[in-house]
Amino acid sequence: MAISKAMIVFPLLCFLFLTISTLSHPNTLVCNETEKCALLSFKHTLSDPTHRLSSWSAQEDCCGWNGVYCHNTTGRVIKLDLMNPGSYNFSLGGKVSPALLQLEFLNYLDLSWNYFEGTPIPSFLGSMRSLTYLDLSYASFGGLIPPQLGNLSNLQHLNLGGGYSSYEPQLYVENLDWISHLSSLEYLYMSEVDLQREVHWLESTSMLYSLSELHLVACELDNMSPSLGYVNFTSLTTLGLPQNHFHHEIPNWLFNLPLNSLVLSYNHLIGQIPECLGNLSSLTILALNGNRLNGTLPSRLWFLSNLEHLFIGNNSLEGTISEVHFNKLSKLKYLDMSSTSLIFKVKPNWVPPFQLKEMWMSSCQMGPNFPTWLETQISLRYLDISKSGIVDIAPKWFWKWASHIDRQLIDLSENQISGNLSGVLLNNTYIDLSSNCFMGELPRLSPQVSRLNMANNSFSGPISPFLCQKLNGKSNLEILDMSTNNLSGELSHCWTYWQSLTRLNLGNNNLSGKIPDSMGSLFELEALHLHNNRLSGDIPPSLRNCKSLGLLDLGGNKLTGNLPSWVGERTTLMALSLRSNKLIGNIPPQICWLSSLIILDVANNSLSGTIPKCFNNFSLMATIGTEDDAFSVLEYYYDYYYYYRYGGAPNYENLMLVIKGKESEYKSILKFVRSIDLSSNDLWGSIPTEISSLSGLEFLNLSCNNLMGTIPEKMGRMKALESLDLSRNHLSGEIPQSMKNLSFLSHLNISYNNFSGRIPSGTQLQSFDAISYIGNAELCGAPLTKNCTEDEDFQGVDVIDENEEVSEIPWFYIGMGLGFIVGFWGVCGALLFKKAWRHAYFQFLYRVKDWVYVAIAIRLNRLQNNLRVSETHHHLINFCFK
Ligand SMILES: *[C@@H]1O[C@H](CO)[C@@H](O)[C@H](O)[C@H]1NC(C)=O
Ligand SMILES: *[C@@H]1O[C@H](CO)[C@@H](O)[C@H](O)[C@H]1NC(C)=O
Ligand SMILES: *[C@@H]1O[C@H](CO)[C@@H](O)[C@H](O)[C@H]1NC(C)=O
Ligand SMILES: *[C@@H]1O[C@H](CO)[C@@H](O)[C@H](O)[C@H]1NC(C)=O
Ligand SMILES: *[C@@H]1O[C@H](CO)[C@@H](O)[C@H](O)[C@H]1NC(C)=O
Ligand SMILES: *[C@@H]1O[C@H](CO)[C@@H](O)[C@H](O)[C@H]1NC(C)=O
Ligand SMILES: *[C@@H]1O[C@H](CO)[C@@H](O)[C@H](O)[C@H]1NC(C)=O
Ligand SMILES: *[C@@H]1O[C@H](CO)[C@@H](O)[C@H](O)[C@H]1NC(C)=O
Ligand SMILES: *[C@@H]1O[C@H](CO)[C@@H](O)[C@H](O)[C@H]1NC(C)=O
Ligand SMILES: *[C@@H]1O[C@H](CO)[C@@H](O)[C@H](O)[C@H]1NC(C)=O
Repeated sequence: MAISKAMIVFPLLCFLFLTISTLSHPNTLVCNETEKCALLSFKHTLSDPTHRLSSWSAQEDCCGWNGVYCHNTTGRVIKLDLMNPGSYNFSLGGKVSPALLQLEFLNYLDLSWNYFEGTPIPSFLGSMRSLTYLDLSYASFGGLIPPQLGNLSNLQHLNLGGGYSSYEPQLYVENLDWISHLSSLEYLYMSEVDLQREVHWLESTSMLYSLSELHLVACELDNMSPSLGYVNFTSLTTLGLPQNHFHHEIPNWLFNLPLNSLVLSYNHLIGQIPECLGNLSSLTILALNGNRLNGTLPSRLWFLSNLEHLFIGNNSLEGTISEVHFNKLSKLKYLDMSSTSLIFKVKPNWVPPFQLKEMWMSSCQMGPNFPTWLETQISLRYLDISKSGIVDIAPKWFWKWASHIDRQLIDLSENQISGNLSGVLLNNTYIDLSSNCFMGELPRLSPQVSRLNMANNSFSGPISPFLCQKLNGKSNLEILDMSTNNLSGELSHCWTYWQSLTRLNLGNNNLSGKIPDSMGSLFELEALHLHNNRLSGDIPPSLRNCKSLGLLDLGGNKLTGNLPSWVGERTTLMALSLRSNKLIGNIPPQICWLSSLIILDVANNSLSGTIPKCFNNFSLMATIGTEDDAFSVLEYYYDYYYYYRYGGAPNYENLMLVIKGKESEYKSILKFVRSIDLSSNDLWGSIPTEISSLSGLEFLNLSCNNLMGTIPEKMGRMKALESLDLSRNHLSGEIPQSMKNLSFLSHLNISYNNFSGRIPSGTQLQSFDAISYIGNAELCGAPLTKNCTEDEDFQGVDVIDENEEVSEIPWFYIGMGLGFIVGFWGVCGALLFKKAWRHAYFQFLYRVKDWVYVAIAIRLNRLQNNLRVSETHHHLINFCFK
């Protein structure tokens, strides 16, 4: 073992302090000097940016230090609890010093939720024989778990793993033989520890006769020995094996366990849920959600009268469930039947024997009647009955019931529920009523509403009474979506009431008048959609105060005046759509400051002047494959609880774009779009050559302007270009040879210009219809019918510079269109974020506390930060397919 300088110098120094401090407190119980020095040198090699260990000073009794606990009579240190209690910022890191070995009586060591940057778990821990409790989870230790831990024969509680990102090596074992020596072990939790090299995990763990809880979460296990009839787990009451790769039927040996809790969520289990599940009569938690189980539910399931958690959602289960099934389940509190083919059919006057806390019934057939029995559920906190086939009026009592204390989530979205909400008070943290048939005036809000989605209904009347309502306190509203309704009137001047808003969508309504100055008081705003209304007047200068704006969509209104130059100051902007308004004047060159811009759409206005030469400053359009801040602005997470339930499906910003002549909504793939649309304006001058350095640009539309001159020779550098529309300008000259390099090009329109010469032959430029080229009298060659003369056949030297950085494009991009990229994200993106579910699982077992959500958020941030740093898809691919 290498002895560092600190290990020698430190004890000397602290001995001096100690002598002084001991003298000054002669009568109190003070900690052992050797142990104090050991702790100080342990602190010395740790990084502690937020000074969590500031109380660890030589002048103080170490028994009073933060996280240090001494025996109450001997004064020896017995417990060290350095779990990070809060956000990532409070993480300890650095090196875990072997000075700990001097704490002879230490029986409890907790370093969880800190950040040790993938360094290995120190093997000297295996020599700390007095340990009974060791928690190193979610602390980003990596590499081989030292088998020396098997020497900890007094250990009762062991927590390892969790919290990886693409940067840190995962923890792994060669085999689990060492585990079987932990003869006192009662609790074992491993998360994201790679156990795929270990095929005997079941044998090793079943030798632990005291083991009562076993949790192997996302450990890459693929075999639960389904053919075994019996496994000698004498004390096991809790078995959690979620997020592994079990691809077989539910094994029979499970049904001999004294088991209270069985969690097999998110595997690939197949077949039916066996009848003998009924043998587990003391079962309180049954979580089989996220598998491929099929058939009907076993009848004996309904006799498990101790059941509190029944999670069977996201399977191919079928059959009808009626009130009689629940007769014995009086203790049920958490019910998940979402995303199954189960039909939940109960009488309207049913009084269930249970009181639920959570009910997850999305995409499970409950309708067509509204579930009136909900009125009996007093303590329900999470209600998700979205997409459940309800075609009914929401009963009058419902809104009063819903506003009752402590209901967090009400999700009725994507049904055909109708009703009038005028006068109703909404009082839940998350409310989703979108895509239903609600009508009438808008409801009122309590300050506690944080996310409200009422999009795609038939709400009508002026919007200002809603915006100017008197709130009983400061609003917490962060996300408001009322798009696609019949709201009318002016936007009011009450925006100062809503300063917590981060995302606002009022698109597709009948709003009129000016965009009020007071919207500039929405300092936190990241996305603003006011598209397709009848708004008029200028874009107010106050909007420049929205310093975090990432998406601004004001398209489809009657806005006048200039495209304001301050827009260039909002450098966080990724998507700017002002299309179909009445804007005049130049495109201000300041717009080029928007280095994060990926979508610029100012089509269909009356803009004039030339195209600024500085478009090459749109650096996100000049590169391929960087993710950067796309995560936070165009893709966001609003509800960590949802996140835990569904493995982290993000929410996406959406935008209507006209691409390849077709208008459609871009949502989850929005962040992959790179588009410039300046069409249908009065722009003149030439196409700046600088534009050709936007090698990541996919869609370029400059049609219907007065542009002159030639196509830039280096257009062929825009290798990602899929669609190019230069039609209806006054462009001339030959089509540059370099354009044959545009191998992704699938839509081309250069019609109605003055182009001449031969269409470069032998390339995909011939694969377009003649209609792409018509209206150019001097143009010849296929696919046009006009043959070229010998003169025209002369072609200039190939302008492509051979030294060009072809390799700039990552290899995996070659041959992939957007479709692949989307597919990649569909699959890999899900994997990435599934990880959070694991952290959440961990918490779920400890009873969900509020800080948990915070912790998940932090881990997510950490993950995102890492993603941001890692930048290229390369890292992501490695990470994803590892
Ligand atoms: C302090 O701990 C050291 C090392 O364990 C031990 O040798 C010494 O006797 C202890 N001192 C007291 C006063 O208990
Ligand atoms: C010391 O701790 C033990 C066990 O925690 C406890 O039973 C005992 O009452 C405590 N003694 C004093 C003097 O606090
Ligand atoms: C955490 O650190 C970041 C910057 O590093 C800071 O912006 C944020 O406010 C900090 N959060 C807390 C809770 O200290
Ligand atoms: C501790 O464990 C290691 C590796 O398993 C083993 O070689 C060593 O003999 C053990 N030490 C003791 C004291 O048991
Ligand atoms: C199971 O383990 C217990 C505890 O050691 C032992 O007494 C018993 O014989 C074992 N049963 C079988 C069938 O191996
Ligand atoms: C379930 O219990 C019944 C009766 O108690 C027993 O006959 C049967 O073998 C048990 N099934 C399993 C798989 O343990
Ligand atoms: C259902 O499970 C599959 C795979 O197990 C997963 O991809 C999907 O996201 C899950 N859906 C929900 C709603 O949990
Ligand atoms: C369940 O799925 C298996 C294949 O995984 C299939 O053989 C079986 O027929 C299915 N059973 C039902 C009831 O759909
Ligand atoms: C709204 O909810 C809060 C907290 O959940 C509760 O204290 C309050 O009584 C509720 N208000 C109404 C009107 O039900
Ligand atoms: C163009 O050339 C082809 C052969 O290269 C010939 O068959 C065709 O008749 C010509 N068309 C015209 C309009 O000259």
